[in-house]
Order: sequence, then structure tokens, then C-alpha cells
Amino acid sequence: MDKIKDSTIFVTGGAGFIGSYVIEELLAKHEPKKIIILDNFIRGSYANMESYSNDPRVEFHEGDIRDTALLEKCVAGSDYVFHMAALRINACAANPQEGFEVMLQATFNLANLCVKHKVKKVIYSSTASVYGLAQHFPTPETDNPYNNQTFYGGAKVWGEQLFRSYKFMYGLDYVALRYFNVYGPRMDTDGKYTEVMIKWLDCVRDNRQPAIFGDGTDSMDFVHVKDVAHANVLALLSDVTDEAFNVGDQVETNLKQMLDALLKVNTSNLEPVYKEANSVNPVSRRLADISKAKRLLGYEPSLSLEQGLSELSHWYFEKQKQTQQ
Ligand SMILES: NC(=O)c1ccc[n+]([C@@H]2O[C@H](COP(=O)([O-])OP(=O)(O)OC[C@H]3O[C@@H](n4cnc5c(N)ncnc54)[C@H](O)[C@@H]3O)[C@@H](O)[C@H]2O)c1
Repeated sequence: MDKIKDSTIFVTGGAGFIGSYVIEELLAKHEPKKIIILDNFIRGSYANMESYSNDPRVEFHEGDIRDTALLEKCVAGSDYVFHMAALRINACAANPQEGFEVMLQATFNLANLCVKHKVKKVIYSSTASVYGLAQHFPTPETDNPYNNQTFYGGAKVWGEQLFRSYKFMYGLDYVALRYFNVYGPRMDTDGKYTEVMIKWLDCVRDNRQPAIFGDGTDSMDFVHVKDVAHANVLALLSDVTDEAFNVGDQVETNLKQMLDALLKVNTSNLEPVYKEANSVNPVSRRLADISKAKRLLGYEPSLSLEQGLSELSHWYFEKQKQTQQ
């Protein structure tokens, strides 16, 4: 039986990058009765919600998850919750007080409301940042979080532990998903990692030399946003509870390789210029072990980096054309 059919699903941060794809998949492939979105547009947008903003099943609230009365209005009557609203890593570093209010206090309030209103399952957006520089590559979920040095990563570790304790104390079912480096159309064009892809696309457009900060060997595990959205839906549909899963591609790509792939899909032969590294996030390597998500959720990444970069380039250049018109 499809749990999503006729259910009410609340998505915090549903006007954002990943949330908008989760909602599209829920609406296109399942039959929810209602989807409730709460987003304050600090990063999200109406443009992200274009495909479903007129869908009668979607109820949008522009507001803040720190507004507990509004949060309760959204949770009451919801069967399931995707908790995706969060500040980005740089925003937490720039303003830890706001980071505390959004990432910890509001998440705490949400967990309490989920217990009070008998929500059946929460899917919590966590991150590979919980590992800091991991102990093993590929990194299994059992690697410890003590190498994390960021407020953002610390807040997400705490969020996972909050839901774990609420499962233990109150029986609230949940799954935490640790996304690696998510990319794709609608991605953030100002963030730390994403910025580099977008800046390089600007170089391709203007025929300028792309800059690599550092020696180009820092690596990431890029995962397409549609695969991440699908992992969220799988986590909701499955009976698995009280577990954390890595969501990546299990392919390690360094900056130089990523630039090469981006240039290839855009048939460009620009040469990079190397510059001194400057970073908010002190992690030089990422590679997910995704065997647990494959085994327990049936997760399987479906888009190669080349396919994804080609789609991203198309989206970005089209978007620019439209803003110029
Ligand atoms: N994009 C990635 O690479 C990545 C990697 C790991 C984890 N994550 C996590 O995945 C989740 C979704 O990330 P995303 O990439 O879609 O980011 P995003 O910024 O596009 O989406 C988050 C949404 O939350 C909203 N929001 C933020 N603070 C809010 C508040 N106080 N009240 C209401 N809405 C608020 C934003 O406006 C935005 O629309 C986040 O929890 C993020 O930490 C993302």
C-alpha cells in the first residue's frame, strides 16, 4: 500500500532547492491529499515552486519555522513531515545566534509538535558535514562525528540525536538523511560548493579562465538533486525507522575533474588558473558509502555527473537568457 496516498505531508523549507524536487515527486508519482509548505524565502523562491504553485493540493505559508504558532498550525493534521528548512553552513558561521534559533530551537519545537500531533514519521535532512573530515573513505554511517568543526554540522548532529531520543522516549518514527554535495537545476548560486560550478559556468559563457582555489585535489561526492529527492520519498515509504543514511553517488570527484567534466559537456577547452584556497569548511575529502541506503531503502543513484552537469548548464544558461529578456 502506498502510504502517501490520501495523506497530508508537511514540508518545512519546501520552496527551497531539494524540497521543491521532493514535492514534485510526491505530486507526480503519488497521490497525497495535501502538501503543506512553510518557507520564509530566505533562500527559497516562487520560481522553485512554479510547477506546483497552482496545484489545489498544495497549501503554501510564507513564514518562519521560529513562529511556533504557525508551525503548530502546519503540523496539526499532518501525517508526515519532511524537515528541510535550515540555514546554510556559511550563514550559521556568520550568525550562530540565528543558527541556534533555526537549526536547534525550531527543530526542537517541531519535534515536540510532531509528538503532540502524532505525526507518523519525520524525514530529517541531515548532512555529510556531520563527519567533518571522515575517518574512512568511502565513509560509512558508523564513522564518528568528532571531526566536525562547523556550527552547521554540530547542529545537524544534534538534530539527528534529538529525533533519536524522541523515538526512544516517545516512539516518534524518523529517518535522517545525510546528503553529500547536492547539485542540479535550481541549486543555490551563492553557496560555498555550488558557487564554484556556477562561477565556472560564467567563465564558459564569457570565455574566461576558470579559477581553482587550492591545488584542485579537494574532492566531493556529487549527487543529483533528483536522486536526493527520491531518497527522501523512499525513506518515507519504507518501514525503516531510527536510522541515518548517507545519500551520495559513491563517486569521488576532485575539483579539477569536476571542472574537466563541466568544460567537456560545454565543449570548451579553457585552461584553469590556480589560486590560494579560502574556505569556511575545513574538509578536503568526501566520499559516501551508500551501501546501507541501497540495502535498506532501495536507493540507487540514477544520474551520472556528466548527465547532471549537462542538464545544469542548460538550465543555467536558459535562466540567464530569460532574465536578460
Ligand atoms: N544542498 C546541499 O548540498 C545539502 C547538503 C547537505 C544537507 N542539506 C540540507 O538539506 C536541506 C535542504 O537544503 P537545500 O539545499 O534545499 O537548501 P535551500 O536553502 O534551498 O532550502 C532550505 C529552505 O528553507 C527555507 N528556510 C530557511 N530558514 C527558514 C526559516 N527559519 N523558516 C522557514 N523557512 C526557512 C529557505 O528559504 C529555503 O527555501 C537543508 O536542511 C540543508 O541543510 C543540503
